[in-house]
Amino acid sequence: MDSLIIQGQRKLFGDVLISGAKNAALPILISSLLTPGKLVLKNVPKLFDIQTTEKLLHFLGVEINKDESSIELNAKLINHIDAPYDLVKTMRASILVLGPLLSRFSKARVSLPGGCAIGSRPVDIHIRGFEAMGARINIDQGYINASSEHLPDGRLIGTTINMDQVTVTGTENLMMAATLARGETILDNAAKEPEVVDLGNCLIKMGAKILGLGTKKITITGVESLSGTKHAVMFDRIEAGTYLVATAMTGGEICCHGVDADKIEAIILKLKEAGAEIKINDEKITIKSDGHLKAINLTTSPYPGFPTDMQAQFMAMNTIAKGTSEITETIFENRFMHVQELVRMGANIDIKKNTAIIRGDDKLSGANVMATDLRASASLVLAALSAKGETKIERIYHLDRGYEMLEEKFNQIGAKIKRVNQ
Ligand code: UD1
Repeated sequence: MDSLIIQGQRKLFGDVLISGAKNAALPILISSLLTPGKLVLKNVPKLFDIQTTEKLLHFLGVEINKDESSIELNAKLINHIDAPYDLVKTMRASILVLGPLLSRFSKARVSLPGGCAIGSRPVDIHIRGFEAMGARINIDQGYINASSEHLPDGRLIGTTINMDQVTVTGTENLMMAATLARGETILDNAAKEPEVVDLGNCLIKMGAKILGLGTKKITITGVESLSGTKHAVMFDRIEAGTYLVATAMTGGEICCHGVDADKIEAIILKLKEAGAEIKINDEKITIKSDGHLKAINLTTSPYPGFPTDMQAQFMAMNTIAKGTSEITETIFENRFMHVQELVRMGANIDIKKNTAIIRGDDKLSGANVMATDLRASASLVLAALSAKGETKIERIYHLDRGYEMLEEKFNQIGAKIKRVNQ
């Protein structure tokens, strides 16, 4: 198992090219199941979760061809309509094959998903949505069995679905299913995340009829079939945010390329509040910091609010900032697993229910720590970059699920990170 050894207290300077978004690439790769045509994608990041998705799609029968800059997917002939446990256990987003398989082939069998251990993360809203569209669903031995074969032509039926909680993959799953359903589907209380919009735009290019992307009411008018298209995946908001916070903490000046600042406004506002200087120019964001920061309060919420996927990184930042701050997590229970490890590095953090109280102090020091989930691991990297001495982070396979070439990119801007295999 790989570990990272990080030498701390080095300032960061230079340019970072931000990769394509994992959370947009996953549903867009999976949307290839909706069409017998060819889907050609660019800006797909090279990540473990992407490989897992490709393996799953390959198993289902999707033909996949890749070169350095693009991935071509063709789901003309499908061999399986089931996604087995072994292929989906490490990645919760695998549940996204349910909607496309059910709407195109009238049948699907998908193992209940795994993924990051950040709370119970049920999929009840997905299931209730498919049932509202007429599907028959039963859960048996850890598998969701879904069928619309009893409906005329086996097609799902459009309807209004009120989602009681904003769910990103839930919105994506139901939106994909609705593209081939009979009639109109309204998704009420839909997720407004840019990744949902990116998927929606790709589906529109494939011939889907979708209105209201980026708002809480998405209307989809089903069509009989979709065709292939070409699409470039949007930038990764969380990767960009992670490099910006790193530089705010260590001090220095970096420029992130390939980003759209409007989509990370909540992150930028908090960094400015903490005292970092930020300049935006076309697709570039430059951050300058002397490393002396003010602690800031924040509460996570669905887009356009502050993203839960940046909560752990800002927690690491607050541990070295001046003052006492409060971070409240409202999306996932059990998403404070990084706290214990940050405390091992000298942080002063108390947890009261879903709020962490952080007493900032400039004294993190290197230690042996363990990565627990994807974003928690990122917070440990940031803490290590600003800590005194050497930090060893174990179990970094979580990082490989979501950050493309993390150590190469950080080392290019002046960090000292080494990967070791034990
Ligand atoms: C997605 C992102 C993840 C991010 C999260 C919130 C992907 C692949 N992952 O995860 O990085 O942290 O959005 O921005 O895009 N819920 C239910 N029932 C459901 C579905 C969700 O109760 O059927 C709850 C969840 O437990 C959670 C909340 O709704 O408390 C939001 O979850 P959701 O938006 O679905 O997260 P994911 O789509 O899994």
